[in-house]
Amino acid sequence: MGIKYLEKERLFKLDTPNSSYVCGIFDPEGFLLHLYYGKKIGDDDIRYIAQVYTYPFSPDKNNRDRGMFLDRAFFEYPTEGVGDYRQGCIDAETVNGHSGCSLHYVNHQILKGKPGIAGLPATFDVMPGAVSGEESICETLMITLNDDPTGLTVTLFYSIFEGVDAIVRSVRLENSGTSDLFINKVLSACIELEEGKRDVITLHGSWARERNIERTAISKGIYSIGSIKGESSHQMNPFMAVADRNTTREQGEIYGLSFVYSGNFTASAECSQFGSTRVLMGINPKGFRWKLEPGYVFNAPEVIMVYSAQGIGQMSRTFHDIMRDHLISGANIHNKYRNSPRPVLINNWEATYFDFDSDKLIAIAKEAAKNGIEMLVMDDGWFGKRSSDDMALGDWYVNEDKIRGGLKKLVDAVRTAGLKFGIWIEPEMISPDSDLYREHPDWAIAIPGRTGTLMRNQYVLDFSRKEIVDEIYSRIKAVLSSADISYVKWDMNRPLSDIGSYALESDRQGELFHRYVLGVYDIMGRLLEDFPDLLLENCSGGGGRFDPGMLYYSPQIWCSDDTDAIERLAIQEGTSMVYPLSTMGAHVSDCPNHVTGRTVPFETRGYVALAGTFGYELDITRISQEERDMIAGQVEMYHKYNELVRTGDHYRLTSYRENGLNDSWMVVSKDRSKALLTYIKVMARPFKRSVVLKLDGLDPNKDYRISCDKDVLCTDTGERGGNGLTLRGDTLMNAGILINEDSSDMKGDFRGLLIDLTAEDLLV
Ligand code: DGJ
Repeated sequence: MGIKYLEKERLFKLDTPNSSYVCGIFDPEGFLLHLYYGKKIGDDDIRYIAQVYTYPFSPDKNNRDRGMFLDRAFFEYPTEGVGDYRQGCIDAETVNGHSGCSLHYVNHQILKGKPGIAGLPATFDVMPGAVSGEESICETLMITLNDDPTGLTVTLFYSIFEGVDAIVRSVRLENSGTSDLFINKVLSACIELEEGKRDVITLHGSWARERNIERTAISKGIYSIGSIKGESSHQMNPFMAVADRNTTREQGEIYGLSFVYSGNFTASAECSQFGSTRVLMGINPKGFRWKLEPGYVFNAPEVIMVYSAQGIGQMSRTFHDIMRDHLISGANIHNKYRNSPRPVLINNWEATYFDFDSDKLIAIAKEAAKNGIEMLVMDDGWFGKRSSDDMALGDWYVNEDKIRGGLKKLVDAVRTAGLKFGIWIEPEMISPDSDLYREHPDWAIAIPGRTGTLMRNQYVLDFSRKEIVDEIYSRIKAVLSSADISYVKWDMNRPLSDIGSYALESDRQGELFHRYVLGVYDIMGRLLEDFPDLLLENCSGGGGRFDPGMLYYSPQIWCSDDTDAIERLAIQEGTSMVYPLSTMGAHVSDCPNHVTGRTVPFETRGYVALAGTFGYELDITRISQEERDMIAGQVEMYHKYNELVRTGDHYRLTSYRENGLNDSWMVVSKDRSKALLTYIKVMARPFKRSVVLKLDGLDPNKDYRISCDKDVLCTDTGERGGNGLTLRGDTLMNAGILINEDSSDMKGDFRGLLIDLTAEDLLV
């Protein structure tokens, strides 16, 4: 691992275990140009590859055709307005209304360690699993550039982590001039790729259909995604990958970018006139305008860049590793849930919606305890006069008509039943029908003089204002301090609109979106400081804010309000392309499913939820005895495999989204001695009774004992009953296993199975 500067050649080189990144200073102007990002290379001096002298009509001293050079060169941090007509990273407008910018090298520094970013979530420098950063495993390169006429100073940060094939980038702006600047655009990362046939991969969706995989060919022009909703959104996730057209799950080159931010974002891939591709990511410039006074700085959030030469799967595993070890729960790395199993919870939302009281909750808790469930979560409806989603957001005091005798009494009863207690909150919101709104109508985000748009009958609080964050936090803190509360589900049930703050000056209204996100991060940070052992689960009408920024505060995020196990296959497949399984909030819910109306066997619902955090979302007092009897076994299954699921390497084998028939994935322990395979048969087919499934991720030279919870495997003679068979890793990965779908417990649609693989050397 290492970052080096080659003094004579004026080149910077960053090496990760399997990738190299090279950029350098080019005279006479001192431009910082990008040279290479890809598979690890042994040479450092690759100046010959720079696109400086190759384009006709671009002499290096004569300025006559400079524009052509600018529009062709690969820039580390491209600017706009002075000759590069592709999309750039920065737009800094002067008080005179001009916004051209050209950046030139000033100096650089190479540091051991990794500085944090004030007010923002960011990856952190600790050994995997450690609880302090005493032993640094990071190096950081800081390159400072400036634009003389405006006095804008731009510092680019690049960090690498020992053993991780990722480079993390961020940007700091400083106004070193004497007049105000207005930053209309500041992106966080750019990568430039040579001419080639490439695809772009993104995760798109909507409510109840989040993070479905979209792959499309890049052609000349700009392909761009983003959010302008004030949150990362259900529609587009802050992730973009650019892959060779032939890249598959197992092979080929791919570059993935993931934005550590929870607000508006943009990501784009622009194919230039020469066929090269420029990929950009950062805060969405739409709705963004930041006044930067002389002497002030602005920090742009971080982008995690992953390069894989071994296909999409390897990119995903690298994202999982860096997020698990260096991002999740960074707000309080001592939080006990950062590296340990989470309690199996039961949430009352789909069980009761708003119609509950303490008796109902205690009855659920008692029944849950009998079946091994470990925590009860009281969802929406426990506060103010909240009897539907039309009222009371902001009135964070307990509704004693429902919670008779107060919260402590309820929590104590649940604790006595043997369960931990969790609670739902939605701190960022205000209902027009609330005491808070009646008292402070100007606390909602709104354009003065215009009736604000309601969604779910609520407005968004102006979290750019510290006094509002302070007041809401003190109300929430009082609730959480009043009883023994182990878990908080933090919800956000509408995006922002009508962007206006009653407190910001007119030339700072364009700061509201970003200041809002900073306010959210601030309150979440305070929460985790005051309640260090709290398990925080984020949520936004399902998975509308499932992003790396949120993972810095909460180790898990509710994936989707669609709890139908079959719908969840695509949602969880897309989510796991970037995010570790340990982050995916997944529950077994009641059937017919409340969103789709589909009925899926209880057992299959359990298999699918096992690939996430695992829990229940149903009225355990009302489901059939047969289903209730399965819960204890499922909880046991969770405990048996959770360590593997939380910490192992994830391999996707087949995708229902692609084949319309079945879905399967594996989790393999880091030492490859244990693996768990989940197979879901979605669609029954006539005359096709068996499926050959090739495994992945195993040690080719190890023998694995195979055991399946169904009698569906074939023996070495082709008979049924292959359970207990031992096969070598290379056989399992190349010849595969044979799953007999004709077995009686696999008959019909939506059937699943689990296969446990344990290395023989572990058994002896
Ligand atoms: C949306 C969440 O995704 C649900 O799980 C539930 O908490 C509701 N909000 C409550 O209003």
